[in-house]
Amino acid sequence: MVNFMSKRKVLGIIGSPRKNGNTDILIREILQAAEESGLETDSVYLYDCEIHPCTACDSCSKTKKCIHDDDMTGIIDKIGESSILVLGTPVYWWGPSAQMKAFIDRWYGVDRSLFKGKDCLCVIPSGAESKHYSRHVVGMFEDIIPYVGMNLMKTIIASGHGPKGSVRNDTSLMEQAGSLGRGLNH
Ligand SMILES: Cc1cc2nc3c(=O)[nH]c(=O)nc-3n(C[C@H](O)[C@H](O)[C@H](O)COP(=O)(O)O)c2cc1C
Repeated sequence: MVNFMSKRKVLGIIGSPRKNGNTDILIREILQAAEESGLETDSVYLYDCEIHPCTACDSCSKTKKCIHDDDMTGIIDKIGESSILVLGTPVYWWGPSAQMKAFIDRWYGVDRSLFKGKDCLCVIPSGAESKHYSRHVVGMFEDIIPYVGMNLMKTIIASGHGPKGSVRNDTSLMEQAGSLGRGLNH
């Protein structure tokens, strides 16, 4: 019998400029496990995208369109096609990366129905050993995600991972990422 149901799609949004870095590795692990469990996946490196910062011109409130014509259009299309988002950013000076912040600021001009009902995972590596240093980024996602109508399923906090790619040697984190990815196909 032909199955007309489309697969749930998982979109990884990588907010670190460091390819093959800790954010990238953990998101890829989630996506690979999700794919192995039968889901479709896609990903975006924000660093490779042209995303102009929001200028607070507020024209989107009148025209329902942002004044910037850049890669946000393509990313919004990808979000629309996905039912699960995996958002990842390293901690930079107690906050998210500039790429992730510029991306999220642009949600200001996006029709909130885009996000409604989607599930979300977050990945937050940081150099300091203590999770205390990630608390603002954790809190930012905990507030923003439900605010736009998404469901925050889980946040992976990868503290104590300053060097590029060091999460690979952290079996427990890699297992957590894999198991979250596999669990998305329910
Ligand atoms: C500009 C910059 C600022 C950083 N600020 C912090 C910080 O405030 N707290 C922290 O624990 N680690 C900080 N780090 C370390 C990164 O969070 C850490 O190296 C992380 O694993 C990077 O993730 P990535 O490999 O995905 O890029 C900073 C790194 C950079 C480059």
